[in-house]
Amino acid sequence: MTLVEDTATKDNAKSAAGETLSIHGGRPLHGRVEVKGAKNLVTKAMVASLLGEAPSVLRDVPDISDVAVVRSLLEVHGVRVEEGDEPGSLRLDPRDVQSAHMEEIDAHAGASRIPILFCGPLLHQLGQAFIPDLGGCRIGDRPIDFHLDALRKFGAVVEKLPSGIRLSAPRGLRGASIHLPYPSVGATEQVLLTAVRARGVTELRNAAIEPEIMDLIAVLQKMGAIISYEPNRVILIEGVERLDGYDHRAIFDRNEAASWASAALATDGEIFVGGAKQQEMLTFLNVLRKVGGSFDIREDGILFRRGGDLRPVTVETDVHPGFMTDWQQPLIVALTQATGQSTVHETVYENRFGFAEALVKMGADITVYPHGLQGGPRRVPRRSLEQAAVINGPTALTGADITVPDLRGGYSHVIAALTADGTSTVRNVGILSRGYEKFFDKLTALGADFDVVG
Ligand code: UD1
Repeated sequence: MTLVEDTATKDNAKSAAGETLSIHGGRPLHGRVEVKGAKNLVTKAMVASLLGEAPSVLRDVPDISDVAVVRSLLEVHGVRVEEGDEPGSLRLDPRDVQSAHMEEIDAHAGASRIPILFCGPLLHQLGQAFIPDLGGCRIGDRPIDFHLDALRKFGAVVEKLPSGIRLSAPRGLRGASIHLPYPSVGATEQVLLTAVRARGVTELRNAAIEPEIMDLIAVLQKMGAIISYEPNRVILIEGVERLDGYDHRAIFDRNEAASWASAALATDGEIFVGGAKQQEMLTFLNVLRKVGGSFDIREDGILFRRGGDLRPVTVETDVHPGFMTDWQQPLIVALTQATGQSTVHETVYENRFGFAEALVKMGADITVYPHGLQGGPRRVPRRSLEQAAVINGPTALTGADITVPDLRGGYSHVIAALTADGTSTVRNVGILSRGYEKFFDKLTALGADFDVVG
């Protein structure tokens, strides 16, 4: 057993162990769920704590396995991680940071891709880093070339080993001028986490500007970093010699909020998502409205339900402020219930419609075009990214035996099974604990009828 499972709380231990669900569908979801800090910020803010010379406190940390992975990786590097002064907070003390053995790092890296972000902070603190082969959801090749190119520009020496990569910085790290070929979230974070303590100024062009990145910039500024955001995706970072700790409440998880919103639409239910905020969800809410969804924005969250019959829509996933790739899978389940033809273009990842096969097995009418519909110019010319899914609805869904492929695709499978008539067997649901806290408890609170059978 890995440390990931050891450190999980009872509920997530149950989720991780419960790999197979028997779901009895056809019942609308009704009730309230709370979303905590965003997976896509919390894990990065935890890594940022490595850069400080004093302890940090992170608040609203969700109990998900990606957090457990980062926690154990920090611990093997000598960071003391303990519960903070309120439930859901972590205190991270980096004052005894030390090198860890390759095998130990490898054993604790799990399936997460976050370890790649340890590069800059470890190079600053220890002069070297080892990053094991990376996991993450199987949604395409997910290369790390942008990360490694940027690190080399800072002066890092990258050595590829059979089990991962070893980095060193014999002459320290210097500010650099970096133009990302694509506004990658991870590569932008890599540059931020490395530049804040590099000597001199770093200019990052074509940066990703997702709300979670802006929140990471806020964390780094609290630590003492000097970062300015210029027009046209340019970020300037003036390196400083030392950083302190931070005290920060994480931005809410807009991906989880969007997931529950789509679940309300698909099952024709009504879900109040506590902690969801309008500002970071503007693009999603526009699409939801076009589809026939209704939302009631309140002080403490957003209530989602249908506003009438569901309508078809054409959407294209994109970097922020576009329609996020993580939102399309749950939305597609709702689109199987809309009257007419919808089209979803996926432009961020090359393999993110694999989950649709299970929906087709359940009765959905979805055709995936692996090379896109238009054959137009590619967003990244050297790579062929665009794919499309055409959904004809409404179709009745019926229970089936399906296996979860990845985090968001897996969520969609569960929602499809809850929408379907009859009983479904959904395997490999343990993967959902990577991004959804207390998932089974939330389903129960919403009135879902399911049994953990394996
Ligand atoms: C993050 C999010 C994920 C979200 C994605 C896009 C986390 C933990 N995950 O993933 O939920 O779906 O942003 O908003 O925050 N690429 C390269 N070379 C690289 C890096 C990326 O070609 O070195 C490509 C990827 O293959 C992909 C695209 O760039 O096609 C976007 O990837 P990126 O933005 O880096 O996603 P992640 O940071 O991995």
